[in-house]
Amino acid sequence: MTIEVAVIPAAGRGTRMRPITRALPKSLVPVVDRPAVQWVVEEAVRAGATEVYIIVDAESQELVERHFNSAEEEPLPGLEDVTVQTLIQPAPRGLGHAVGVAEEAVGGRPFYCLLVDNLAIPGEDVLADMAEARNGGSVVCVRDLPEEYLDRYGFVVPGLVRTDAVLEISGAIEKPGIKNAPSKLGLVGRYLFSAEIFDAISESAPSVGGEVQLTDAIDKVAGEGLCRAFITEYELLDVGLPESYLQALTRLALAHPDHGARNTQIIEDSLTENR
Ligand code: G1P
Repeated sequence: MTIEVAVIPAAGRGTRMRPITRALPKSLVPVVDRPAVQWVVEEAVRAGATEVYIIVDAESQELVERHFNSAEEEPLPGLEDVTVQTLIQPAPRGLGHAVGVAEEAVGGRPFYCLLVDNLAIPGEDVLADMAEARNGGSVVCVRDLPEEYLDRYGFVVPGLVRTDAVLEISGAIEKPGIKNAPSKLGLVGRYLFSAEIFDAISESAPSVGGEVQLTDAIDKVAGEGLCRAFITEYELLDVGLPESYLQALTRLALAHPDHGARNTQIIEDSLTENR
């Protein structure tokens, strides 16, 4: 079954990326030759999505719309047959709340959810494998992560193992820290949700950081036996932090679908000249 809808929550202020994000919405932070959000939209489209909803704050709506739907520009290559629409999150009430904004547009269908902070290297895609792992409910993508992520990411409570890469999960905890870590399997920003997630979101009270957490809603559906995890070996690059942003920029420049060879040469020459 092809999943046709993708939701991209991109309304955060990007405070960890100051000063870049003082005026620029974090979804439009340039990564090589295109804004972060375009890499993410392209990934969803490679997996078969044709209807994309980007959740934005009111201030950034016009800029994001202009990027994807400008009447004065040619459509972006590869996105000619894709509808990209923005939806406004009226107040910064957290990632779970942002996803909840898409409920009406999604209209009961299963949908991919992709975080704009996490970028996949083209060719190292996970969404199609997640769709394969699905058994009617939701699927979250996880990766075996080092300890320093335990305060930064959400982590799942492992359940029954189905295959080498697929397991049931019985819960999820946002930023558990080393003391409460249920596993080292961290949520890396790719999800395939069934519509039940919206009820779980609306039942979730604000928690970590005073925000409505998506991980709490995942915890609920997992507790009802409706969520699996797909374990990826691929690294998703984090463009939400200055140090990993530089790494993401370099890796995506090297792996660029059109200019990878040229970029590799430029980076190698720059290193030689700086020695
Ligand atoms: C969010 C999610 C977290 C996930 C992370 C991945 O955290 O809440 O569960 O592991 O993205 O980037 P945030 O970056 O909003 O703190």
